[in-house]
Amino acid sequence: MPAMATLIDTARPWWERPGLDATAGRLRVAGHDLAPIAAATGTPCFVYDLDRVAENAGRLAAALEASGIPARLRFALKANPFPEILAVLRGIGTPGSPGAIGIDACSPGEVTHALAHGWLPDEISFTGTNVSDRDLDVLLAAGPIRLNLDAISQVERVGRRAPGRAIGLRINPGAGAGYHPGLAYAGDRPTKFGIAADRLDDALAAAHRHGLTITALHFHAGSGWLAGGLAAFETALVRAVEVARLLLDAGCPIDEINVGGGLGVPARADEQAVPLDAYAAILARHVGPLGVTVACEPGDYLVKDSAVLLGEVVTVEERGGTTFVGLDLGWNIDSMYFIYRYAQEIVPVVEPDAARTRTVTVAGHINEAADLFAEDYPMAPVAEGDLVAILNAGGYAQAMQSTHCLRPAAGALFLTRPVDGVGR
Ligand SMILES: Cc1ncc(COP(=O)(O)O)c(C=O)c1O
Repeated sequence: MPAMATLIDTARPWWERPGLDATAGRLRVAGHDLAPIAAATGTPCFVYDLDRVAENAGRLAAALEASGIPARLRFALKANPFPEILAVLRGIGTPGSPGAIGIDACSPGEVTHALAHGWLPDEISFTGTNVSDRDLDVLLAAGPIRLNLDAISQVERVGRRAPGRAIGLRINPGAGAGYHPGLAYAGDRPTKFGIAADRLDDALAAAHRHGLTITALHFHAGSGWLAGGLAAFETALVRAVEVARLLLDAGCPIDEINVGGGLGVPARADEQAVPLDAYAAILARHVGPLGVTVACEPGDYLVKDSAVLLGEVVTVEERGGTTFVGLDLGWNIDSMYFIYRYAQEIVPVVEPDAARTRTVTVAGHINEAADLFAEDYPMAPVAEGDLVAILNAGGYAQAMQSTHCLRPAAGALFLTRPVDGVGR
């Protein structure tokens, strides 16, 4: 099949996008050659293209605006709390205005962090799980943040502390979507998130007892879902809208349906991102008739493809017929495959578009068998000492890194694209 081989070898890498390209045999982020960067920073090191964050936010905001429905965009802070990223997002729109990007926080620490980085209390929406009384004390002292309560226990305890307060309810819509079934947050089996339909009356009664006003309905279908997951997301949305109607009929002044995050970023050539116009149209079709604002709170969608993670190949060795490529970093630095089974592309920094002629398992330097980045992975040939970049490393990876095995944290470099040929 020589014609097919030629086609594959000469095709551009599927992952090329603005700010990430293979040019003259070098992998570049934000127009900067990664080889000298890695030599200067050492490895492992996250390298960000800050302009990509703004681009992602702008694309999603434009799709929501085009749908004609009033919308609020909030960033799920857990995906990346670093000041450089937050400065980009805070710089979009006038703080407090509908065009600004708010924050989805899931812990008191995230609320405090968002306030410290310039967000106003009412731009912050908190949705947490297994929230302690100590958490509630901090949250309730933080001002008029939006509080979505995901358990009747939370409704009772907020009611006792702050009777009369406005709250949102996080529901379990009984349907979910995810990059794979394990990342769907709702479905046939009970999950730890949200108030299910059979407890809604209890939640309403608890809110009523304490004079709490229910102004928002929240659900999060799950994380990482792609184009094929849109129908499953729509099923969850339809159920959430049914619950919102029940609450409105019961006299609750719902002004927002928060549809969570979860928009995924493709990891492989054959994966398709959610078409944003279709996503926004679904939101408008189902939420629009209610006359309320739709809020969405993506994490990954805004930041995942804004960074690569540089590593060095330290071992290439056959074991039982499998070629293991060992890197100088482990799941302590990037746990996307270890935890989420999200296998990122791993690309040589030099000759990044070389043909992928080897099938390998890529492993890390943590003393645990599951410390892997990819299995049965078609990769360009690499040798010990080569530099590689793990793509789509901008969401969760750096935020979740640890010093497990007393391996130090990775470095980070935040780049912007050259303007008129001048790099920054
Ligand atoms: C309630 C809630 N909102 C938003 C997010 C952000 O998800 P993602 O990064 O997949 O968009 C999460 C992630 O777990 C979540 O639990």
